[in-house]
Amino acid sequence: MFDTNPMAGTLLTASPTLSRPPAVVRTGPFAGQVAIVTGSESGIGRETARALCENGAAVVLNGRNAERLEQTRLAFAQAGLAVASCQADVTDYADCERLIDTAIREFGQLNILITNASISMRAYFADMQPEVFRQVLDSNVYGTVYPLKAALPHLTKTRGSVTFISSISALNGMPSGSAYCAGKAAVANLAHTLRLELDHTGIHFGVVHIGFTQNDADKRVLDAAGRPVPIAHRPPRWQKSQGQVAGIILKHIRRRRQRTVISALGRLIVLIHTYLPRLGDWVVLTTIRRLRHFYE
Ligand SMILES: NC(=O)c1ccc[n+]([C@@H]2O[C@H](COP(=O)([O-])OP(=O)(O)OC[C@H]3O[C@@H](n4cnc5c(N)ncnc54)[C@H](OP(=O)(O)O)[C@@H]3O)[C@@H](O)[C@H]2O)c1
Repeated sequence: MFDTNPMAGTLLTASPTLSRPPAVVRTGPFAGQVAIVTGSESGIGRETARALCENGAAVVLNGRNAERLEQTRLAFAQAGLAVASCQADVTDYADCERLIDTAIREFGQLNILITNASISMRAYFADMQPEVFRQVLDSNVYGTVYPLKAALPHLTKTRGSVTFISSISALNGMPSGSAYCAGKAAVANLAHTLRLELDHTGIHFGVVHIGFTQNDADKRVLDAAGRPVPIAHRPPRWQKSQGQVAGIILKHIRRRRQRTVISALGRLIVLIHTYLPRLGDWVVLTTIRRLRHFYE
């Protein structure tokens, strides 16, 4: 079903000076499948898209930054991966319809949707502009709902797989992350509801709670006024690489898991939140007094 031309699918202009890339990779556990990964021009989304391609899938990349998206698409195409791209804002429904249409037009079907696009934040609720709260929440909630809504008829045909990318911060409250935590918790519940409501379709609905992960050097989150700022400090020894996280996401999809919680810290949060919630609050309140740089 795939379009075998690795230069196909771009909505942007490719450099005419490039030589033709190598043959497209189409073997592996995801051979014959077509995936969309939202927010995949950078970070974990890009590495997840790469891992899917390297395991046989054809992938549509997505993001809002045309230049970065095209750089990523070209790098994939030059590596011989089956890739297309669609510049689209996933909080805009018409854009999401274009995104899904790109997969169908370029590769003829859709088997896997990973809603990964997200805006994060570091700001205390009391200081936050209401519009910033809305932007962060929208990117996480409607950025999940809209692509899925547009993709649903195609995923029903293929009995496909949907993975919402959430965070371990959805498992417990986290000061300075109100809108982000609320959005990530909302999508976890949405996955559960849809799994029950759409059981008859045979579509897999899962959620992956990601823990601390290495970031692209230019990753930015929003401050209280909506300005892009670097993310807060994360101890490097607690971080997984983007490639490790991508590998775990692929395993989650292959096994059609309902929920995957990444990292020992994530699993510890689940246990404490469930059985010892007051201890969980004590830990957060203590760290916010002693390790403010962790939140700010
Ligand atoms: N890194 C971590 O430690 C960590 C921990 C827990 C969970 N996560 C989750 O993992 C996922 C990936 O995180 P990351 O660290 O790789 O972040 P990232 O580098 O900032 O990647 C997010 C991607 O989403 C895109 N995006 C944002 N808003 C969008 C929109 N409205 N429409 C389309 N694309 C949009 C961004 O590109 P543009 O802004 O150019 O569009 C970017 O490519 C996110 O869901 C995040 O919440 C990450």
